[in-house]
Amino acid sequence: MSTHAREPIGVIGTGYVGLVTAAGFAELGSDVYCIDIDAAKIQGLNEGRIPIWEPGLADLVERHRDRLHFSTDLSDALEHARLLFVAVGTPPTYSGDADLSAIEAVVAAMPASDRHALVMKSTVPCGTGDSIKRTFREQGKEGFRYVSCPEFLKEGSAVKDFLQPDRVVIGDDGDWAGEAVAELYSPLDAPVVRTDIKSAEMVKLASNAFLATKISFINEIANVCEETGADVVEVARGMGLDDRIGPKFLQAGIGYGGSCFPKDVSALKQLAGNSGYHFQLLNAVIEVNELQKRRVMSKLQKHLGSLVGKEVALLGLAFKPNTDDMREASSLVLSARLQAAGAKVRAYDPVAEAEARKLLQGVDFVASAEAAVEGADAVVLVTEWPEFAELDLRAVAESMRGTLLIDGRNFLDPEAAAAAGLAYEGVGRPSVAARPSIAEAAV
Ligand SMILES: NC(=O)c1ccc[n+]([C@@H]2O[C@H](COP(=O)([O-])OP(=O)(O)OC[C@H]3O[C@@H](n4cnc5c(N)ncnc54)[C@H](O)[C@@H]3O)[C@@H](O)[C@H]2O)c1
Repeated sequence: MSTHAREPIGVIGTGYVGLVTAAGFAELGSDVYCIDIDAAKIQGLNEGRIPIWEPGLADLVERHRDRLHFSTDLSDALEHARLLFVAVGTPPTYSGDADLSAIEAVVAAMPASDRHALVMKSTVPCGTGDSIKRTFREQGKEGFRYVSCPEFLKEGSAVKDFLQPDRVVIGDDGDWAGEAVAELYSPLDAPVVRTDIKSAEMVKLASNAFLATKISFINEIANVCEETGADVVEVARGMGLDDRIGPKFLQAGIGYGGSCFPKDVSALKQLAGNSGYHFQLLNAVIEVNELQKRRVMSKLQKHLGSLVGKEVALLGLAFKPNTDDMREASSLVLSARLQAAGAKVRAYDPVAEAEARKLLQGVDFVASAEAAVEGADAVVLVTEWPEFAELDLRAVAESMRGTLLIDGRNFLDPEAAAAAGLAYEGVGRPSVAARPSIAEAAV
């Protein structure tokens, strides 16, 4: 794709969203002035180091080195660009509300100006735009424009999602800034939803809450399947062919994680509560997800009894494949529960080990799936990295001490696992006992 020279922009915050947005707009032809308060990150980016693992991102940044400018100095962006995309973090507070302190710092750092606009990419509660505009007015910066442009990219396919989005949502006050943002996105062949700021903010929260609901829904169906003997994979296949339902986000597993769903669902629940509305459905979505991570423990205990002294191998740690993001990963809860129950945990992840080491205590990290399973009483597949589909299950069975394989993502073939000598436990599908090999059976 690309490109004649296009409007230069600023991007404040160079994390997953900021860096992908910056590289994406550089691909569309803009000079992009990227600002972050993390000096080490900016230095690394200036030296060509990409701080996150995201397919295609390093190539895109490298290709547009001359259009991408990295600095800790906000004035670089203010001087060259009138649109300042904000992509700073909005993590949850202890109460489950969104922590807007990074956003507030950005707003406070803006000068009075009739020439600039903030374009909000960070996920914020509905009403944040109003309160930022009020702050601008109180500080004599009423000339500063504001646009809500929520981001829908998915880690693991973020570059593709930027360049081929399902939709672009732009909420604005009908001034030049909304038009300018629409013009920036115009080379992309995507439906554009032009709306008011509050509705744009709500589109983002409602979308993530709906996806999380779909996951918790199929997980509850999976739990009922376990009681009734149905297979949730078959059930989801049958359901997903109904085009009112669709097949996506109907994969039962050990719960959703990541930097977005848990915090955005909780933030929407709190937002509703703060406005006096009790959002009952979201309470259940959150609770089902928490319980789902813990169901692995009862499956382990069903087969192994007490877990004291047992060795458990975790395959995959990231919250999903193709990312090194460990935020709210199911592996965090699982490894803590396992160790609390007395088990020893060995773990392997193809790319998330460095991030995982910062968050997981007492875990023995190893460099391959083969090393993880050696001598293990049980193996739990936590993240469905493609390389685990290639595992030699017979070799796995031979190198383990026990035979239990818990497939937390319904990723492996139960029959192949059983034929290899493994006792297979998926999520919402019948257990399959290990089948002795022909040689063993003949003895
Ligand atoms: N990660 C995703 O998949 C995703 C998808 C859609 C939306 N979002 C939303 O986008 C926002 C950013 O998420 P992320 O995952 O990219 O976060 P991140 O933590 O990866 O990156 C945030 C960056 O902002 C920087 N920062 C913090 N305060 C700053 C300030 N005052 N000035 C300049 N830089 C500052 C941090 O140093 C960090 O580099 C969040 O609101 C998130 O909910 C994330």
